[in-house]
Amino acid sequence: FLVFIRNVKSAHYGTFPNMSRRVVRQSKFRHVFGQAVRNDQCYDDIRVSRVTWDSSFCAVNPKFVAIIIEASGGGAFLVLPLHKTGRIDKVYPTVCGHTGPVLDIEWCPHNDHVIASGSEDCTVMVWQIPENGLETPLSEPVVVLEGHSKRVGIVCWHPTTRNVLLSAGCDNQIIIWNVGTGEAMINLDDMHPDVIFSVSWSRNGSLLCTACKDKRVRVIDPRKKKIVAEKDKAHEGARPMRAIFLADGNIFTTGFSRMSERQLALWKSDNMDEPICVQEMDTSNGVLLPFYDPDTNIVYLCGKGDSSIRYFEITEEAPFVHYLNTFSTKEPQRGMGYMPKRGLDVNKCEIARFYKLHERKCEPIIMTVPRKSDLFQDDLYPDTAGPDPALEAEEWFTGKNGGPILISLKDGYASTKNRDLKVVKKNILESKPAPKAEHIPIVQKHAPQSSVKMEDKLEEVLREFKSLRDRVILQDRRIARLEEQVSKVAM
Ligand SMILES: *[C@@H]1O[C@H](CO)[C@@H](O)[C@H](O)[C@H]1NC(C)=O
Repeated sequence: FLVFIRNVKSAHYGTFPNMSRRVVRQSKFRHVFGQAVRNDQCYDDIRVSRVTWDSSFCAVNPKFVAIIIEASGGGAFLVLPLHKTGRIDKVYPTVCGHTGPVLDIEWCPHNDHVIASGSEDCTVMVWQIPENGLETPLSEPVVVLEGHSKRVGIVCWHPTTRNVLLSAGCDNQIIIWNVGTGEAMINLDDMHPDVIFSVSWSRNGSLLCTACKDKRVRVIDPRKKKIVAEKDKAHEGARPMRAIFLADGNIFTTGFSRMSERQLALWKSDNMDEPICVQEMDTSNGVLLPFYDPDTNIVYLCGKGDSSIRYFEITEEAPFVHYLNTFSTKEPQRGMGYMPKRGLDVNKCEIARFYKLHERKCEPIIMTVPRKSDLFQDDLYPDTAGPDPALEAEEWFTGKNGGPILISLKDGYASTKNRDLKVVKKNILESKPAPKAEHIPIVQKHAPQSSVKMEDKLEEVLREFKSLRDRVILQDRRIARLEEQVSKVAM
């Protein structure tokens, strides 16, 4: 494949028709070896979502793989324990509380049983997954975060603080929530004039960078509600961009040139006037989703609709972004999950694991660095971000910062049982104006009695609501079973 490198700073131009012949530098990652797992290690018979939104549709952690699926009349995603490979039954329980399609999901980095979802129904929901996965459909989130007026396409947990979650909606707003209290703490509603394509936290979560349909990449200090740097036409093409923070504070972007070639670029986050480098890749039209490993400084690019994963090592020497290799298969990817480092098998020298979504299955892809020795390869595994948060939500909102708390993978990673997520809501009845009198019968002379009545009434309505919801879930399952029987008869 053709690569054109333009290094603006040193005016270092060149075209390299065959990168693999031009080995100019040593890298232990030059011979990363990618391999799809055996068929029986895939997750089969999954109806991957067809919603038109360029998110990854898949989220992975050391315990579960979650996949956004097609669901009639609502939105749902599957949560499978990693070992639950093979054919997934049609009636396998889903997370099904949204009333519109789910657009994005992300596991909490500090609790492997907590996952957030954003949906076309304009809400964000946070879910607690039982220890061994779902045995019945889960329609009751721990908390519903309401504040967006249009669909919510991005959810993104703070990397180092407990219970801080960001969401971005097609109302062009970013909201940062304290999940522990269910409150919208920061609202960035006047920074983006158009749809937000991507949001990424910096390594310690003090800054954000965003890519927007107005072709700008912005670096934002969310607590000061200030744009600290921005670049207009970071990529000149009209198709979607992505921007992510790297560990050293630089920003890596993907996008399209004016001639619709796919590009990648590297920028300083404090001054984005000129790129550190820009490289043109090819003329495919799938959005390039970047996945980043801060420990090895490798970026993996998965094009939506491509059938390959390309990876690059980023260093401080020109051309800064060094092409390493491409892993290709025959079938295009509908989405992709990326395992956090602590979920990898260090005994196999695994340095990355992807979960590639096909139309009807999810296929793990394992990247390894071949080594002869059986010993722990500490040069491949510098200490990596562990599950413990550095800060509590209140600390971050009041201005503290903290980098990730690192752990060694020397003896492998054993996940422990996390405490359950608890949401302690402030008494909303105290802060909101009282409901209008005509809705609730109030006995004027006996105020205390009336509030008791109100509570009773509320409880009754809630009970009724729950039973209706349960009935809908049961009907859904019944319909799915019937559909299956009908399809068998039809064959
Ligand atoms: C957090 O990162 C910013 C830059 O991204 C840096 O200026 C700051 O010193 C860091 N703070 C801590 C406590 O790590």
